[in-house]
Amino acid sequence: MSAINVTATANPNAEPKAGTIVIGTDDTYPPDEYTNASGQLLGFDVDLGDALGQVLHKKVIWKPTAWDGIIPGLEANKYDAIISFMNVTPQREQQIQFIPYGTFGQVIVTKANSSAPITTLNDLKGKKVGVQIGTTSEDAVKKVGGAIIKEYNTFPDALNDLANGRINAVVVDESVGRYYMAKDPGVFKVAGQPFASEPVGIGLRKNETQLDQQLQQALNTLKQNGTYNKIYTYWFGA
Ligand code: ARG
Repeated sequence: MSAINVTATANPNAEPKAGTIVIGTDDTYPPDEYTNASGQLLGFDVDLGDALGQVLHKKVIWKPTAWDGIIPGLEANKYDAIISFMNVTPQREQQIQFIPYGTFGQVIVTKANSSAPITTLNDLKGKKVGVQIGTTSEDAVKKVGGAIIKEYNTFPDALNDLANGRINAVVVDESVGRYYMAKDPGVFKVAGQPFASEPVGIGLRKNETQLDQQLQQALNTLKQNGTYNKIYTYWFGA
């Protein structure tokens, strides 16, 4: 299911060409971007990217890509854009440019039955904390200091270790934390309040001036005509 009735096309061998936009995404991150048990690519970003393609009359082809190395892949022309719930950070802006499309926070997730009093980043000091490698979640935990950070290639790997009691908490984008809490309420809980509300954007190579303008205009259209809100509400609730 999707909010906009477009079936996403995923193609690991896609090559950028005229009339198409190839978008790289790490599809292990529900509900932002994920491949379901039937092999369908779904999520907030997927609907957003497909809707942008509709406005621009371009065919959107999704290229599932590991998060670690997703920026070098863009720089190596493996895809035209990254839509992967990527936060706009000064460090990433040295390499690529962004079209921000929303502002989102992060959360701490623990076991539902956890007795450890973890509600803020400070409570993570001395605890084993799982993060997806190279994410702003990892940055947030590092900034506080004192936590024993375990890096994972995908977020579900971190969650798995949390479920098995190998780590005490994970830090992740709020949408993802809430998704898993809703899916397995007896197993996981979002601990405390969201923090670090920061912009998330479409990543482009710095020299892509035309695509930048086209996508920015298309995004404005989706924000004005209600499509963006429709997609947002479908995936994240009101
Ligand atoms: N928002 C975080 C960041 O920018 C994590 C995004 C991870 N995205 C993904 N599809 N795994 O670092």
